[in-house]
Amino acid sequence: MRVLAIESSCDETAAAVLDDAKGLLSNIVSTQIDIHRPFGGVVPELASRHHLQNIVPVVQCALDEAELRLEELDGLAVTRGPGLVGALLIGAQFAKSLAFVSGLPLIGVNHLEGHLYSSRLSLDSVPPAIPTRHLALLVSGGHTALILVEGFGQYRLLGQTRDDAAGEAFDKVAKLLGLGYPGGPIVEEMARTGDCRAIRFPRPMAHAKGFDFSFSGLKTAVANHVRREGLPVGQRVNDLCASFQQAVVDVLIAKALSAARKERVSAIVAAGGVLANGSIRSALQQATQAESLELHIPPLKFCTDNAAMIAAAAMPHLRAGRNDGQSILVSARLPLAA
Ligand code: KG4
Ligand code: ZN
Repeated sequence: MRVLAIESSCDETAAAVLDDAKGLLSNIVSTQIDIHRPFGGVVPELASRHHLQNIVPVVQCALDEAELRLEELDGLAVTRGPGLVGALLIGAQFAKSLAFVSGLPLIGVNHLEGHLYSSRLSLDSVPPAIPTRHLALLVSGGHTALILVEGFGQYRLLGQTRDDAAGEAFDKVAKLLGLGYPGGPIVEEMARTGDCRAIRFPRPMAHAKGFDFSFSGLKTAVANHVRREGLPVGQRVNDLCASFQQAVVDVLIAKALSAARKERVSAIVAAGGVLANGSIRSALQQATQAESLELHIPPLKFCTDNAAMIAAAAMPHLRAGRNDGQSILVSARLPLAA
């Protein structure tokens, strides 16, 4: 089965073709980072306009690279939320048009489910074997959540952030330090040569009961530190970034391991843009190894937003004969189970 998927929920216009036998045939991501950088964050109206400009060439490029024509596909998929409504609409309308002219079935995919399915993508054609029942740690710019996956489409939310997402905290800390946008990769780079024990930042809710997160307090602790000590320069920037990053790592690991123990799962899937972070990846690897837990983290390029994960999430729905067709409604807020 061959699926063309489109993703346009935030600042990446992406299209991919996935073949369930041969693997990923193409995976095109056109990022708008340079457009939003001067504003220090994503400007929704600009995002919509650029999706509109990019969607045709990006989809064409995905088909060309896969060496397929629309008629040779078995289905279409598009992100229907959560995300920026204007941005989502561009992808959804375009996908509906493609479905209309081709007669192909179209699946509206939850972006969060897409991130969960990114763990099933591999750089070769052999997908990783993941136990049906497992714990998912989803850490992105908009979400931080622990989800118990019990089967196809069966998700139980164990906990989520009560305020900022972890990725958002990375972005806000980078902005506070005047490091630029997006913050995650810049903070990681600075942290590489920093001392993570230089500043003891709080680990919000790390040992609280339940599985909710809170990253706004950590961001405030960084802001208070800067207010007290002044804007750091030189090595102190690296030390601050490393100390902040370590606080995030410690919270994510404490919560994920305690949820894994409570739910008695044998495997953890960790996904979302923040999992592009090398320190978080390796800390999770060490922590899960120590507890004899299986860990599945997608290859780096599938962590941040892409359409391959949307195709992967759509595949079982298409196989089950579902067709959302022209009825797809986009939604800024969309719970995982909807
Ligand atoms: O999953 P994603 O691409 O988009 C959303 O669905 O939100 O995640 C984007 C987030 C941003 O907050 C970005 O700063 C963060 O992921 N991120 C990182 C890294 N790369 C991206 N955070 C920490 N370290 C990174 N290397
Ligand atoms: Zn995302």
